[in-house]
Amino acid sequence: MRVAGRFNAQLMDFIRPHVQAGVTTGAIDKLIHDYTLDHGHVPACLGYGPVKNPYPRSCCTSLNHVVCHGIPGNEVLKPGDIMNLDLTTIVNGWHGDQSETFVIEPIASDVRQVVQCAFDSLHLAIAALYPGCSLDLIGQVIARHAARFKFGVVDKYVGHGIGRRFHQPPNVSHVPTREAKSLRIEPGLCFTIEPMINGGSKKTVEDPRDGWTVRTSDGKVSAQFEHTLLMTEAGVEVLTTTENGPQPGHKF
Ligand code: MF3
Ligand code: CO
Ligand code: CO
Repeated sequence: MRVAGRFNAQLMDFIRPHVQAGVTTGAIDKLIHDYTLDHGHVPACLGYGPVKNPYPRSCCTSLNHVVCHGIPGNEVLKPGDIMNLDLTTIVNGWHGDQSETFVIEPIASDVRQVVQCAFDSLHLAIAALYPGCSLDLIGQVIARHAARFKFGVVDKYVGHGIGRRFHQPPNVSHVPTREAKSLRIEPGLCFTIEPMINGGSKKTVEDPRDGWTVRTSDGKVSAQFEHTLLMTEAGVEVLTTTENGPQPGHKF
């Protein structure tokens, strides 16, 4: 899992300078796809999901009011946009999964606040964890931080256990739940935290045409950040990070 997480983080390092005004989401996807294959690994998103409607691309590009699972295509990034780029790679059978929201400057201050809140809520949650802590701590910390700004926390889509499978138990809710209250994060558990923070309502709508794209119901923006984590006896390790990405405390 450490090797998979490191490769996925290096993939994010590789793509970061390419996420710029004038670039299409499809071009970003092609770079991700080719870099992954050139290194002998497998894009986990490509062909993932139901046999009747497998995911058609190698990453998710979720722009502005798209919450998650946006499909790369012909959209051109332009000033004022925010875009979550979610990358997942299979390395020797193990999965690394992470995402970042990119800002195409200049962006509006209310939009920047949503991005900052999503980033800070992820890192506040990570900082709160300790061996054997309640899984519910994650949802408590994220919900409390988002409430300060009256932002919506998406509860329909959750983080997850991860390993040989892309998505495996437990569900990692970003709001407090009864189920999470009864579970603990013991050493050895690999999981993701990936809060989706909406500028308005937490409510989402799935696109009936493509069966994937998830948008906010009120058209307000949504931002997300994700890391794959490992709990150890000594505390939590972030597996999907390098020194090149935004560090805790980063200001957007
Ligand atoms: N990467 C997403 C996650 O964090 C899942 C994307 S599944 C896909 O769990 F099929 F849409 F790519
Ligand atoms: Co994930
Ligand atoms: Co992801």
